[in-house]
Amino acid sequence: MSLPTTVAPLFTPLQLDASLTLPNRIVMAPMTRCMAGAGLVPTPAMGAYYARRAAAGLIVSEGVIVRPDGQGYPNTPGLFSAAQVAGWQAVVAAVHAAGGRIFAQLWHVGRVSHPTYLDGALPIAPSPVPLAGRVPRTEFTYATPRALALEEIPPVVAAYGHAAANAKQAGFDGVEIHGANGYLIDQFLHHHTNRRTDAYGGTPSRMARFCLEVVDAVAAAMGVGRTGIRLSPAAYHNMEGDPRDVVVFDTLLAALAGRSLAYVHAGIAGHHWSYDDLGGSVAAYLRRRYPGRLVACGELTPEGAAAAVAAGEVELTAFGRPFIANPDLVERLRAGEALKPYHERMLLRLV
Ligand SMILES: Cc1cc2nc3c(=O)[nH]c(=O)nc-3n(C[C@H](O)[C@H](O)[C@H](O)COP(=O)(O)O)c2cc1C
Repeated sequence: MSLPTTVAPLFTPLQLDASLTLPNRIVMAPMTRCMAGAGLVPTPAMGAYYARRAAAGLIVSEGVIVRPDGQGYPNTPGLFSAAQVAGWQAVVAAVHAAGGRIFAQLWHVGRVSHPTYLDGALPIAPSPVPLAGRVPRTEFTYATPRALALEEIPPVVAAYGHAAANAKQAGFDGVEIHGANGYLIDQFLHHHTNRRTDAYGGTPSRMARFCLEVVDAVAAAMGVGRTGIRLSPAAYHNMEGDPRDVVVFDTLLAALAGRSLAYVHAGIAGHHWSYDDLGGSVAAYLRRRYPGRLVACGELTPEGAAAAVAAGEVELTAFGRPFIANPDLVERLRAGEALKPYHERMLLRLV
C-alpha cells in the first residue's frame, strides 16, 4: 500500500549522528504516567508499554527524576539508584528488541513539589517563591520552596550528569533534559521564580547559567549529539511570565547554538499557539534564534505535523496524547487509518 501523501513527509528518515538514524519524523512525547514500582524503579509493564510504540522514530521517556528531591508526583521513576538503572535496562532492552529507539527525559521538579514527596523537607528552588494551587491527587497546596544556597547548586548540576551516565549504562540511546514547563531548570530561566542576585540570577546570562551547566554535565556523560533539551520560552505551565524573560531565552539559545545538541524540543504548548512576547509561535521563535534541529509538539494533527516538516519549520514532530490512545499510531498513519481519540481515563492503565 502506498503512503498517504498528506503524511508522507513524516516518513523520511533523519540522521541524528553517524550511528543513529531515526526512520521517521514521529516522536513519542515525554509523558509522566506515575506507574513506577517501589523505590521508583521502572516495571516490566512500562517496558511493554514503550515497546508497543517502538515504531516511533524516537521515544522520549516520561520524566525521570535525577535525585530524590526532584520528585513532585507519585510513582515517577528515577535514575539515581542501581535498582532503577537495572529496571531501565529491561525497559530499554524491550524497546530495542522491538526495533525502537528511546531517550530518557531527565527531570527535577524544583518548587513543583511538597514535603509529602520529600520526607518532610521543603522543595528546593532558585528563590523562595511558591507555586499557587493544589498539588495534584492530594489535599495539599504547594509549599514555599527553600532557595538553594550557592554551594548547593554544583551538586544538583552533578546529579543531572550522574543520571545521564546512568541512562547510558541502562542502554538509552540518548537523553532529553527537561528544561521546560516550569520545573527546576525553567525556574532559573524566568524572572518570576528566579530572584537571585548571585552568579545564577540578576542578568540574562547568569539566569541561563544553571541550564548551560546542566547541558554541559549531561553532554559530558552522554555525548552532546545524543543530548536534547526541552524548553518553554513562553511561561505557560507552572509559571508566571514576565516580558523580560525572552531576553534570557535569546541568551540561552545563542549559547546552545554553539553546542551541537541532538535537538531543541518545544514544551507543552500547542504548536500553533501564538505569544506576544515571542512574536508568534514557540517553534517559529526557536527557529529564528537557534540554528539546530527542532522538535514541534502540542495539539499536532498528523497532517499539520507533516506540513510543518515539509515547510522546514521543524525537523521532528512529537505526539503526546495521540500516542497514549494509539500505541500503533505510526502504523495507522502509514496505512491512512483514523486515530482513536484520547480520553483522560486512558491514563488509569498502562496499555
Ligand atoms: C499525561 C501526560 C503526562 C505528561 N508528562 C510530561 C513529562 O513528563 N514531561 C514533559 O516534558 N511533558 C509532559 N507532558 C506534555 C507532553 O509531552 C506534550 O507536550 C503535551 O501532551 C502536548 O502534546 P499533545 O497535544 O500531542 O498531547 C505530559 C502530557 C500528558 C498528557
